Amino acid sequence: MCGIIGFTGNVDAKDILIDGLTSLEYRGYDSAGISYFTKNGIQTVKTVGKVSILKDKVNSEHSADATKCGIGHTRWATHGGVNKTNAHPHRFGRVTLVHNGIIENYTELKEEFAKEGKTPVSDTDSEIAAMVIDSCYKTNPISAIKKAVKKLVGAYALCIMFDEHPGKIYAIRKGSPLVATSTKNGSVIASDMVAIIKYSKDYFVLPEHHIATITAKSIKINDLDSNEVEPDMLHVNWDMTAAQKDGYEYFMLKEIHEQPQALTNTILPRIKDGLVDFSADNVPDSLFDGINAITIAACGTAMHAGLIGKSLLEKYVRIPVTVEIASEFRYKDPIVDEKTLVIIVSQSGETADTREAINIAHKKGAKTLAIVNVKGSSIARESDYVLYTHAGPEIAVASTKAYIVQMAVMYLLTFKLAVLKNTLPTNNVRKLVSTLLTIPDYVDNILSSDKVIEKISKRLVNAESLFFIGRGLDYSLSMEGSLKLKEISYIHSEAYAAGELKHGTISLITDNVPVIAIATQKDVFSKTLANIEEVRTRGAFVIMVTTSDAAVNVSLCDHILSLPEIDDAFTPFGAAVMLQFLAYYTSYAKGLNVDQPRNLAKSVTVE
Ligand code: F6R
Repeated sequence: MCGIIGFTGNVDAKDILIDGLTSLEYRGYDSAGISYFTKNGIQTVKTVGKVSILKDKVNSEHSADATKCGIGHTRWATHGGVNKTNAHPHRFGRVTLVHNGIIENYTELKEEFAKEGKTPVSDTDSEIAAMVIDSCYKTNPISAIKKAVKKLVGAYALCIMFDEHPGKIYAIRKGSPLVATSTKNGSVIASDMVAIIKYSKDYFVLPEHHIATITAKSIKINDLDSNEVEPDMLHVNWDMTAAQKDGYEYFMLKEIHEQPQALTNTILPRIKDGLVDFSADNVPDSLFDGINAITIAACGTAMHAGLIGKSLLEKYVRIPVTVEIASEFRYKDPIVDEKTLVIIVSQSGETADTREAINIAHKKGAKTLAIVNVKGSSIARESDYVLYTHAGPEIAVASTKAYIVQMAVMYLLTFKLAVLKNTLPTNNVRKLVSTLLTIPDYVDNILSSDKVIEKISKRLVNAESLFFIGRGLDYSLSMEGSLKLKEISYIHSEAYAAGELKHGTISLITDNVPVIAIATQKDVFSKTLANIEEVRTRGAFVIMVTTSDAAVNVSLCDHILSLPEIDDAFTPFGAAVMLQFLAYYTSYAKGLNVDQPRNLAKSVTVE
């Protein structure tokens, strides 16, 4: 949430800042702004709305300003409405900064400043952070930051410029991410790698509670006791094209199409001699010794991948699995102990609630295993073990490729545990693993169904409300399909276990209400068909997702989307793609910004 960029070097900084903000816009698009040193002091330009508006303003009104050092921000509003005053950067006294996170004690701090006659101009908690730093500042920025952070409660990634220190950016973070690198043209710091990849594939994560002093030539890191710290360098194996639309109109469509490759990258390196092997991930088999329960904690789509994991693990490993919404998990007293494996699932690796689940698990003596996409992210570093998903950067706010590879890791884990716990004959596991290896091609095949789905989705555009139903794995898929559709098309949607509808919700089914019925599981197929009959009788417009070998009476539904034949356990991969297309094309047909749905932002670093 909120994108931050800072650059200082020997080339024009304005272009680099705007360019960085354009890449980071998916983290928030309420307003944008930059501040930079000029020979007449710090200059700030802010606008409400998109970075493109900011860019036009900078080009038309500030093109003559020369600068080699500046900071920028694209905002997802938390405290204070969406307006220019609340846009970042914020300035108070001799301090100008950008902030991602929430300063929880900002009201108390504001009251204290009021007693001194100091009033902020904006309604933001971020300006209060600037006031605190300014009040601690005499001449030394580092000692000011050290004193200030003792007063700040909450989460923050801050990039700060001080009037008397041109050419330098100072940064500190707690809770919110910051990555940085130095190149021959200068040093760059940002909320995430997509803003940096243009300059380098090597970077480091600024350690929490450490201060970075960023100059054109170097980035120096000091802990709060002033010890200099050498950061751990990381490397990404994707390049700039991964962070660009590459001919697609929207990132979401591009990312849907990237799924076969993401699946190959995630599955293939972990298969050895026909079985699952996590040794290259440094996840030892001993991690699973003595484990008698699994808890999966995650949010949103990642939690839905956890639900697929639950079905698989319970079916094949016969181990009880609880899936917890991380924001609920953290505020209850979960039944977790040293015999529970807590699996944390997150694309960004920075989701605040999910991250806190690690702490809770550790306090209860449980071991944690993270399934994370972003290398070096907080969740990856704080969990005991990590299985990375190799989706590459996911830019569309609605998660697609990250979800499918999270699912893939759930299959890998299940097949690993089935061998370790001896719950399936090894030959059966080998068969399942060999099917898993065909999944990238299977998904690739389904990508060609997009034109049919595009047509069908036109029928959903005017719906006020719609329903997704399914049983077992199909129910988990329904939840994801429903979330994806409502998130980007703004049509109210609910997911129901197909058999549960008649316990209340069926009263909402009237003429032409769309019901998307997912029926891919043979063991419950006839039961789901009966539920489809029930809604059909009440006038529903039914789109059915099923397998090509299923015997469906075509008069039962308005449209059938058929998945190629595959072992029932693997149909979620195909159904997921179809539901992603359905959401995408519905949003597209409504003329919405598919990648940047209203009120949302990628990477939820606040509670
Ligand atoms: C929905 C979506 C969100 C995320 C959720 C968790 O399309 O993307 O529901 O899945 O915010 O994010 P991560 O996986 O980054 O922890």
